[in-house]
Amino acid sequence: MRRLARLKDGSEIEIRPLEPQDAELLVHGFDELSVRTRYERFFTVVPTLPHHWVEDLMDIDHRDREALGAGDPATGQGIGVARYVRPPGTTEEAEFAITITDDWQGRGVGHTLMLELMDAARANGITRLTGEVLAANDPMLALAKRLGARVEPSDGGVVHLVLDL
Ligand SMILES: CC(C)(COP(=O)(O)OP(=O)(O)OC[C@H]1O[C@@H](n2cnc3c(N)ncnc32)[C@H](O)[C@@H]1OP(=O)(O)O)[C@@H](O)C(=O)NCCC(=O)NCCS
Repeated sequence: MRRLARLKDGSEIEIRPLEPQDAELLVHGFDELSVRTRYERFFTVVPTLPHHWVEDLMDIDHRDREALGAGDPATGQGIGVARYVRPPGTTEEAEFAITITDDWQGRGVGHTLMLELMDAARANGITRLTGEVLAANDPMLALAKRLGARVEPSDGGVVHLVLDL
């Protein structure tokens, strides 16, 4: 369901679950990301989204695999995606990931989208979201702390975030 949210600076964004026809929007949005943002999200840098990644990212059933997109209603441009995936055989835990386009970072979109994702996860019986984040990713760590996440050390410059819902 589509809904509008207002950021602290007064800008309005729209948030809605992604649907299969959004694949092109996703690919275009990825093309616009800086190398830093791509690396922070995927821990690797590729020039374009490989086809099998697109298939995986668009494999959404709104229950075990959800992806919420944020957009700029003024332009129709995609400005971020937050998703969770509940691995097969898992009941109450899912892994989350989030990307906000560079121009929109630091304006509260990530916070707004994560709150929506947490609501969607709760509604589908998920009680814990976890995520892997680079230990040097200060914006994501600040956002995670504000959301009440626990930060657990992991390996190779990565930390493990745990968000009890
Ligand atoms: C991490 C990310 C999702 C945060 O989304 P965002 O929309 O930029 O975050 P918000 O504007 O909601 O702000 C979240 C917090 O980060 C803080 N912040 C923003 N930029 C920051 C920076 N450069 N350094 C430190 N803190 C920063 C904000 O002040 C805010 O903290 P507060 O809530 O205590 O005020 C976004 O920056 C992003 O897409 N980064 C690249 C991909 C990524 O790292 N994904 C996470 C791994 S899955």
